[in-house]
Amino acid sequence: MNILLLAGSPSTPSRSTRLLHHVGERLALLGHRYVKLHVRDLPAQALLHADFNDAALKVAREQVAQADAVVIATPVYKAAYSGILKAFLDLLPQDGLNGKLVLPLATGGSQSHMLALDYGLRPVLSALDAKHVLPSIYATDQQINWSAEQGLTLDFAIAKRVSDGIENLSSSLHALSEVSLNTFDSIPFSSVRCSV
Ligand SMILES: Cc1cc2nc3c(=O)[nH]c(=O)nc-3n(C[C@H](O)[C@H](O)[C@H](O)COP(=O)(O)O)c2cc1C
Repeated sequence: MNILLLAGSPSTPSRSTRLLHHVGERLALLGHRYVKLHVRDLPAQALLHADFNDAALKVAREQVAQADAVVIATPVYKAAYSGILKAFLDLLPQDGLNGKLVLPLATGGSQSHMLALDYGLRPVLSALDAKHVLPSIYATDQQINWSAEQGLTLDFAIAKRVSDGIENLSSSLHALSEVSLNTFDSIPFSSVRCSV
């Protein structure tokens, strides 16, 4: 099962991207594979002009298509998710998240906009036909700290929510892989042989 870590912050360094990478590393410890896609690294003009033929955007869309699960991280900007994330999501096909599990993450300056993911991003993910959008994780800047020596440290409440989100995604992925292992290819009726 493939996991895509999709970073939607235009900044670097980025708190939301650090939280995203933390989630990716924890998923890797549970045996999952992931690839990273940072929207800020995509060609800006092609992104803003919705240039569907741009080679880098094609590769990025293919990364989404290949994923079984997408962990999406964004900062809260003006009470919503970031504009560059929306610019990228707008380039996906209408059913671009079909069959995929999605775990949304956000960091924001205060608790005031903690519902931005649920009111803003979640409807977009559903419109893109996500199979299941897991409970989102929102952390304020005060709840996550980073230092070169210690890396990322999370306060207790957010650490618990992150652990729950990771376990939830991991078990959902295992369930999904069992379903796909147990699914038989359909056989056309003309190929069915009866011995009666
Ligand atoms: C342009 C801009 C707008 C912001 N708007 C909000 C906001 O409306 N609500 C909020 O809680 N934080 C807001 N913030 C704070 C960021 O969401 C917060 O610092 C976040 O952790 C940044 O994530 P990043 O480092 O991944 O970009 C804003 C920051 C910037 C730069």
